Amino acid sequence: MKERSLIIDTDPGQDDAIAILLALASDELQIDAITTVAGNVPQPLVTDNAHGLLALTGREDIPVHRGCERPMLRELFTAEYVHGPTGVDGTELPEASVATSSKHGVDAIIDYCLGAEDGSVTLCPVGPLTNIGMAIAKEPKIIPRIREILWMGGAFTEPGNTTELAEFNAYVDPHAAHVVFTSGVPLTIFPLDVTHRALMLPRHIEALDAFGTDVAVAAVGMLRFYERYDVDKYDIAGAPLHDPCVIAYLVDPTLFTGHAAHVAIDHVNEETIGNTYEIADAEPNATIMTEVDAERFFDLVVQRVGSL
Ligand code: RIB
Ligand code: CA
Repeated sequence: MKERSLIIDTDPGQDDAIAILLALASDELQIDAITTVAGNVPQPLVTDNAHGLLALTGREDIPVHRGCERPMLRELFTAEYVHGPTGVDGTELPEASVATSSKHGVDAIIDYCLGAEDGSVTLCPVGPLTNIGMAIAKEPKIIPRIREILWMGGAFTEPGNTTELAEFNAYVDPHAAHVVFTSGVPLTIFPLDVTHRALMLPRHIEALDAFGTDVAVAAVGMLRFYERYDVDKYDIAGAPLHDPCVIAYLVDPTLFTGHAAHVAIDHVNEETIGNTYEIADAEPNATIMTEVDAERFFDLVVQRVGSL
């Protein structure tokens, strides 16, 4: 029974890939479309990677819309140093057998919202917020149609992973994040504060590998490539599995704990750009997730992705 239809806005990225696979494996969710955004790697790679994941899982019925080529104002900053030159190094995804939709990702988001009832649309951006920010700027009428935006991004009490202060998705497009934060849409944020508590340990990867399916083999290859950066950088036992936190929350909200807050982002001063922070004694505009039941989270990820 599909409890929730959604759009995933993504910059695959190995962790994006696991988020997409988890959503595909979850009967509670229906992916109505994937929109891609330049981030971990440029266009067209993020679009190619989205297509490759749908080809791998036999789900090329889901439309892919190519979104923005660069942030709203800043030059594009990419993360091949984490994800490799393809963005999904560690595996070779199948070629797409369908074409990318001719409708731009921003227009796909706008049309999807305008075709929906008030308060019914779920958007799951797990990259820079460029497409979401542009959609709100182009057509503010979409705002009342949105039930919730669930975004992986930001860092509040946790240091940044791109600068000392800024998390990657916030750093790449802080102006788009500012548009979203000030738009009044219901917003749930999964920052590094919570994703750094979802460390994927060798035993989690081995458990997924034991399924031996084409999808599991591809996922394990991606994860083994992806983990090396954070394990080396932070000298920790495993890499944080950022983007799947958004999807796991939709499947089982009890996995996460957070609090309401008024959030803001530095989008002017180059020294602190992309820094996300709470403003005390101000009307909350978001829920920030800060805790996760890591073992139940990984059990969900492994069992479901392994079932594909
Ligand atoms: O900082 C982690 C985020 O940046 C994740 O979404 C990862 O895929 C990259 O986009
Ligand atoms: Ca991402």
